[in-house]
Amino acid sequence: ATTKLWGGRFTAEPSEYVQKFGASIEFDQLLAEEDIQGSLAHVQMLGDQGIIAKDEMSSIQTGLKQLQVQLEQGDLTFSIDNEDIHLNLEKALTDLIGPVAGKLHTARSRNDQVALDMHLYLRNRLNELLPLVQDLQKTLVQKAETNVETIMPGYTHLQHAQPISYAHYLLAYYNMFQRDYERLTFNLQHTDISPIGAAALAGTTFPIDRQQTADLLDFKALYHNSLDAVSDRDFILEFLSNAAILMMHLSRMCEELVLWSSQEFNYIELSDTYSTGSSIMPQKKNPDMAELIRGKTGRVYGDLLGLLTVMKGLPLAYNKDLQEDKEGMFDTVNTLMMSLKVMKGMVETLTVKKEQMKHATVHDFSNATELADYLAKKGIPFRQAHEIVGATVLKCIQQGKFLKDITLSEYQAISPLIEADVFTALDPVTAVKTRDSLGGTGFDEIRKELAQAKADLQL
Ligand code: ARG
Repeated sequence: ATTKLWGGRFTAEPSEYVQKFGASIEFDQLLAEEDIQGSLAHVQMLGDQGIIAKDEMSSIQTGLKQLQVQLEQGDLTFSIDNEDIHLNLEKALTDLIGPVAGKLHTARSRNDQVALDMHLYLRNRLNELLPLVQDLQKTLVQKAETNVETIMPGYTHLQHAQPISYAHYLLAYYNMFQRDYERLTFNLQHTDISPIGAAALAGTTFPIDRQQTADLLDFKALYHNSLDAVSDRDFILEFLSNAAILMMHLSRMCEELVLWSSQEFNYIELSDTYSTGSSIMPQKKNPDMAELIRGKTGRVYGDLLGLLTVMKGLPLAYNKDLQEDKEGMFDTVNTLMMSLKVMKGMVETLTVKKEQMKHATVHDFSNATELADYLAKKGIPFRQAHEIVGATVLKCIQQGKFLKDITLSEYQAISPLIEADVFTALDPVTAVKTRDSLGGTGFDEIRKELAQAKADLQL
C-alpha cells in the first residue's frame, strides 16, 4: 500500500510531477464550502438510515462543523499530496476525529460527490448572478427614464438610418438582458437536481435515502439515473452558453460605448471613474472597462467551447476528463459577475451629450424616409416616392445641403403635393415621436414600455 487514501492496491507512488498534473486542489478548493455542506447532509442520512451508528454520525458532524469554522477563518490548508478538495477534506477530518472519519464515504463516491459540489456551487452562484442582471436592468431603465426625448441617429450598417430615442436604444438592451435573466432562471432549474446517491456509477447496495439527502440540501428534484447523474455536465454547459450569450449582449453595448465616446461620434462621455489614461499621451481618456468586457467575452466563449470539446467523446460514466469542467466554470462565474457590476456602474455614470446626438440627426439624411412617407401618405406609390426622394438626396449632396434646407417652392417643383407642413415632417423630433407602432421608438410607446419594465422590476 502507498500513502494515498486509495493506496491499498498500489506498490509505488506517482512521481511528483504526475501528482501535480493529476491534482485539482489548486482550483477545486473553491468547492470547499459546498463539499462540507454535502458531507453534512450525506452523513445525516447515513445515521438516520442506520447505515452508521448515531454516535459515529455525531462525531463526523462535529468534525465537519469544525472544518467549516476553520475554512471560514482561513485556517484550512490544502496539499497536492491529497489530490483534490474531497480527499483533502477527508484527510483534514481524519486528522481531527480519527479513523471514524472513514465512515463518511460509505455509500458515496467522489463521482457523485463532485457532481453534487458542482450543482451546489453553481446554484449558489446563479442566485448571486440573477440580482446582478436585474441591477443592470434597473440602471438601464433609470437612464432611459431621463432620455425618452433624447434624439439620436439610429443605425443600420453603421450608417445613419432613421432617428430614434436614446431611451429606445437603452430599452433594447433591457429586453435582451430580460431574456438572459430568464435563461439563467431556467438554468437554475437544471442545476437544482441532486446527483448524490448515484455513488460511483451504478447506485449502491446500502439502504440510502436519496430523497432525504436531496431534501436536506434543498434540491427540488433528483437524478433518476445514476449513470446520468455522475457523467453529465449539461447544467454547466447551459450556464456557459447562457453566459456566452449574456456576454455577447454586454460586448455589443460596450462596442457602442467605445465608438460613441470617440471624437468622431462624441455622443457620450464615460465617467473618469470608469476610464483610464495613457502613460505617454497626456490627453488620452480611454474606455478601458468597456474594451475589457468586450475582450473578456472571448474568454467566456472559450470556456464554453472548451467544455463542449472536453465532453464530446466521453464514454459513460465518469472519466477524469470531467475534472476539466471546473476552471472554465469558475472563470466564467467570476468574469460574468465583474462584467455585470462594471457595466452597471459605467452606464449609471456616463454623461449623455444630448445636443451632439440631436445635432447628428439634423445634419444628415436620416429624415429621408419621412419625406418618402409624406409623399406616400399623399397618394404617391411608396416605390415612386422612394425614387423621387433618392434623386432629391443626391441633388442635396451635390449642392452641400440637407432636406430641411430645400425651400417650399423648390419642394413644390419636385411635387405639387408638398405643402408647408413638410418641414414639420422632416423634423427628427416628429420622426421619432410619431413612430408609435407597437414596439416602435415613438415617445408614447417608450413610456408604455418603461412603465411595464418598472412594474416588472418593482421599481
Ligand atoms: N477531482 C475529481 C474531479 O474533479 C473528483 C472526482 C474523482 N473521481 C475519480 N474517480 N477519480 O473530477
